[in-house]
Amino acid sequence: MIRQRIIELRHTLERHNYKYYVENAPEISDFEFDRLMHELQALESAHPEYNDPNSPTQRVGSDLTSEFQTVAHRFPMLSLGNTYSLDELHEFIERIEREVGRTEYVCELKFDGTAISLTYEHGALLRAVTRGDGRQGDDVTANIRTIRSVPLRLQGEGWPDYFEIRGEVLMPYASFEKINREREEAGEQLFANPRNAAAGTLKQQASSVVARRGLDCYLYQLAGENLPFTSHEEALMAAKAWGFKISDTTRLCHSREEIDAFIAHWDEARRTLPFATDGIVIKVNDFVRRRQLGFTSKAPKWAVAYKFKAEEALTRLESIDYQVGRTGAITPVANLAPVQLAGTTVKRATLHNAEQIALLDIRIGDMVYVEKGGEIIPKITAVELSQRPAASEPLQYITTCPVCGTPLVRYEGEAKHYCPNQSGCTPQIIGRIIHFVGRKALDIEGLGEETIELLHAKGLIHNIADLYDLQAVQLAPLPRLGEKSAENIVRSVRASKEVPFERVLFALGIRFVGETTARYLADHFRTLDRLMHATREELVEAEEVGEKIADAIIEYFAEEENCQIIERLRTAGLCFEATERTRTSNALEGKSFVVSGKFSIARDELKQLIETHGGKNLAAVSGNVDYLVAGDKMGPEKRKKAEKLGVVIISEEEFMSLLGTSEPSPAIEQQTTTEEPIKNEAPVQGSLF
Ligand code: IVH
Repeated sequence: MIRQRIIELRHTLERHNYKYYVENAPEISDFEFDRLMHELQALESAHPEYNDPNSPTQRVGSDLTSEFQTVAHRFPMLSLGNTYSLDELHEFIERIEREVGRTEYVCELKFDGTAISLTYEHGALLRAVTRGDGRQGDDVTANIRTIRSVPLRLQGEGWPDYFEIRGEVLMPYASFEKINREREEAGEQLFANPRNAAAGTLKQQASSVVARRGLDCYLYQLAGENLPFTSHEEALMAAKAWGFKISDTTRLCHSREEIDAFIAHWDEARRTLPFATDGIVIKVNDFVRRRQLGFTSKAPKWAVAYKFKAEEALTRLESIDYQVGRTGAITPVANLAPVQLAGTTVKRATLHNAEQIALLDIRIGDMVYVEKGGEIIPKITAVELSQRPAASEPLQYITTCPVCGTPLVRYEGEAKHYCPNQSGCTPQIIGRIIHFVGRKALDIEGLGEETIELLHAKGLIHNIADLYDLQAVQLAPLPRLGEKSAENIVRSVRASKEVPFERVLFALGIRFVGETTARYLADHFRTLDRLMHATREELVEAEEVGEKIADAIIEYFAEEENCQIIERLRTAGLCFEATERTRTSNALEGKSFVVSGKFSIARDELKQLIETHGGKNLAAVSGNVDYLVAGDKMGPEKRKKAEKLGVVIISEEEFMSLLGTSEPSPAIEQQTTTEEPIKNEAPVQGSLF
């Protein structure tokens, strides 16, 4: 029972971590996430027998992507403990004062953006790195340079030769709204909130795009080995004098009452700020006391965040619509009596799934609380039972598809209901085509949702393969299209034949196969044929592929209709094979390798290194193999067999040294840079960060 719950929580939290940090598209509020995290922390500390180094409680999150160079932080970038009430905050203060006596605090706004660490050397900006997983992040220096408020050279004097300063990159409301307006006009997906917009912008490949996005950056923390200051206030004042943007709102508080007053003021006044904030950060001012207090593995003990309450309103639930997604997943959406919330009129709210409705016992006609965290789509958090109409009845969830009438199904471990009629249910057909032409998939221009609906309604497309039969003469006479758009569409469809295999694989829309999984699958299997014919055992051997994904892949290729579509796509000339990687060196020319076990980098990355240096990967140990690269937890049988056949067994480090003086690939650099810097778990003795 308890073990089951722990596993479930880890799973849920990991998924939300991924949604939040990798995809930048959170599904639950910080508050809910923290609540689940606290539950897991409590269970884990009561049951150390279930400890797992990979539990989400053991890490601070990750936003790594492959496009930027990964750089280790000299001082880990930690997070902050959260408090949600003044009582909780007062407990924090009492604990501090029990340990170090009465002391002063600096109160700051908690900027709702994305964290950045800037390194300055000899007074010049050397590097800007995102938080990443707290230990290493992405080097986004080129993008940060475009932010006008970040000094490229420091003013004044007295700055240490080498130091880091940390802060928040944020997107002011004005820029946010302008960009979303532009995106809407271009038919692109909108950013859900300024935080996502700031994070998404920093990850842009082209810094010129960043330059136009109107980002801003407030700094709030210095980090360095021998900072010439005795307090945070002093450090901030110096930083301000050096040219950094330090918020004028920051205050030194001498008592609990002053802190409370600061919070009370900003809880209201934040509405007048030109950018988003989600709380107040309270930090011990004196550096000697900070050292005394120290850190946990995740956060400093000398600082805490007080989170503002999400804005809430009470309104009536009038009805529920059920939307059908491209995978057939059903999402209930609440229609509400219009109500004012955080400056906008709210009429709809998401309800997620049947379980959530049952859990809250939401009924039509109920007065419900709607909450809007920084997101565009608000959610229902509770029912006001005291106002429930006498005649109300528990909600009966639908049992058949609202569009095509097919009985709904539930898959094991899935909270949502699904309509299984994939080939006959219109929103699923249209959704799959929309997904297929999307920017991260085949990137076919000129085909927005409306056009796809139109083409489907006119009988011109029933599935993704039909796109490749479209002719300009069929399209041109259609409303809102015309000759020019028609030709554009046909040209863009043709150009999509150049899209690499991994994106084609993602575009197919196999359940659970997102961008990353598609990349791993393409790397591992190399061709669509190999993937199509892989057994369940072979599938789970690929990096990041578990049984759930393996089953979804098998299910997909077992559908006759999918196979027919794939054959038509193949005939159309889509790329079903991973392209050869460009050679980095010939260091491994003529050598064959088997890679087995766990390594400090992903196994597929190691295999990639072998290929980019001219070597060959083999699946099993045999007489043809030159080297067995042995990682952690490699099976003893493999070792025995290799020894018997005279295959040379080498470690990861020995393998790396085989690459010799050849150009280091990013993966190797990543490996060496993560080695030494932050080995000690207790964050950085002697430093203030
Ligand atoms: S101090 C070791 N101060 O909040 C303490 N963080 O929830 C490091 N944040 O990762 C953070 N405003 O991105 C600090 N005035 C402020 C902040 C702030 C926003 C963010 C920061 C951090 C996150 C923790």
